Amino acid sequence: SFLGIDLGTSGLRALLVDGDGVPVGASERAYDVSHPHPGWSEQDPAAWIAALDAAVAELSAAHPAFADLAGIGVAGHMHGATLLDEAGAVLRPCILWNDTRAHAEAAALDADPEVRRLSGNIVFPGFTAPKLLWVAAQEPEIFARTARVLLPAAYLNYHLTGDAVGDMSDAAGTSWLDTGARDWSDALLAAGTVTRSQMPALVEGSERAGTLRADIARRWGVGPDVAVAGGAGDNAAAACGIGAMAEGQGFVSLGTSGVLLAARDGYAPAPETAVHTFCHAVPGRWYQMGVMLAATDSLNWLAQVTGATPADLTAGLRDLEAPGRVRFLPYLSGERTPHNDAAIRGSFTGLGAETGRDDLTRAVLEGVAFGLRDSFDALRDTGARIERLWAIGGGTRSRYWLDLVSTVLDVPLDVPEGGEFGAALGAARLGLCAATGAASQEVMQPPSSGAEILPHPDLREAMDEAHAAFRSAYPHIRAAQ
Ligand code: XUL
Repeated sequence: SFLGIDLGTSGLRALLVDGDGVPVGASERAYDVSHPHPGWSEQDPAAWIAALDAAVAELSAAHPAFADLAGIGVAGHMHGATLLDEAGAVLRPCILWNDTRAHAEAAALDADPEVRRLSGNIVFPGFTAPKLLWVAAQEPEIFARTARVLLPAAYLNYHLTGDAVGDMSDAAGTSWLDTGARDWSDALLAAGTVTRSQMPALVEGSERAGTLRADIARRWGVGPDVAVAGGAGDNAAAACGIGAMAEGQGFVSLGTSGVLLAARDGYAPAPETAVHTFCHAVPGRWYQMGVMLAATDSLNWLAQVTGATPADLTAGLRDLEAPGRVRFLPYLSGERTPHNDAAIRGSFTGLGAETGRDDLTRAVLEGVAFGLRDSFDALRDTGARIERLWAIGGGTRSRYWLDLVSTVLDVPLDVPEGGEFGAALGAARLGLCAATGAASQEVMQPPSSGAEILPHPDLREAMDEAHAAFRSAYPHIRAAQ
């Protein structure tokens, strides 16, 4: 059997799959994020290990197949800085992907055109390199003792194997990696005042990073030669779970944040559009994604202020309609793609005395769909081929939203059948590849489609016009704030 670990922001999910990669059982444990100051977001790595131990204990007790464990893969939330001293002890809480304290350091790094040229990406405030500049300036005694900087997934690899080894897909989110060459860049490391000796060794996500430590293997009741894979950042792992590996394959995720991801056979960065270009978790491939910061979060917000649930709000919507006059800009937490604007906030416009709750709901769903269309257009401009997409995430429970997104993007959407196709499955598949040497293109197969959602051609023109109006509103709202 193989174990996939999804080290998420709010908790850890451990998924056991059998020798053929078919899910057998899963277990989860939650942990907290602390916000000691506005804009800060931190987590204690000890909580990840406690969650892992508890989740594994439950899985192994419930499933005899656990005793045959042959491989492990770890997927992690990206960009986090876990700092270790010479002896491997954690020096301070991990600074997470949604922590914006290092915005000034990010802007300073981003001002050097060489940084975007080599890393292929804007230096967003949540990326790792600016965090280390912040630590150097604000916590110099900790910076001086930092022997190693590990991303969350690489830290779990280190815990499991005793070796500091990370994977390319996660490393691409640091602003220290030459993303085209798939290696640390000495120039980028120097710009960030860190060194190669502080970095983990790099392997592909599907390669073997090391062997499960003997003491852990004994405690878990498994054999002595369990392979641990390079692993992946969570979005690359989700792509492995849904089979989005090659040109033409991708997904749209309606989660807390909205992600539109396209797998790429080649490397075609486009940082000027705020598209993220990262290594995939398998050799010789990359992926690109647009990230919007508030997707289902926008609907949750409307639910909260109207005293309804998101399901109440969408229950009133039946057949897809052309957008009305009410427009919503979904920038409740600022935006990454396409604006790279941490300060922008959302808006409702076009309200009339006749506007009701359903109109507001439709405008919110449309605003998120138009934001995804911005990412879609930016991805297409980089040459990505997107002919159909898997639709995943909690927002896919609304058929209206699915019809809307399909029509606004003008692509068919497939909703996967069955519950297990996310980052934990992708991680388990990486563990399987690392342990058996199986070819990733054989292993990373798509699930079967439970429903095909088609664009409504009669509404295309109305959606295009409304999207153009949405686009033109941003600079005006920006100026008014
Ligand atoms: C990607 C990103 C998030 C995190 C947390 O750039 O910041 O998706 O990986 O899930």
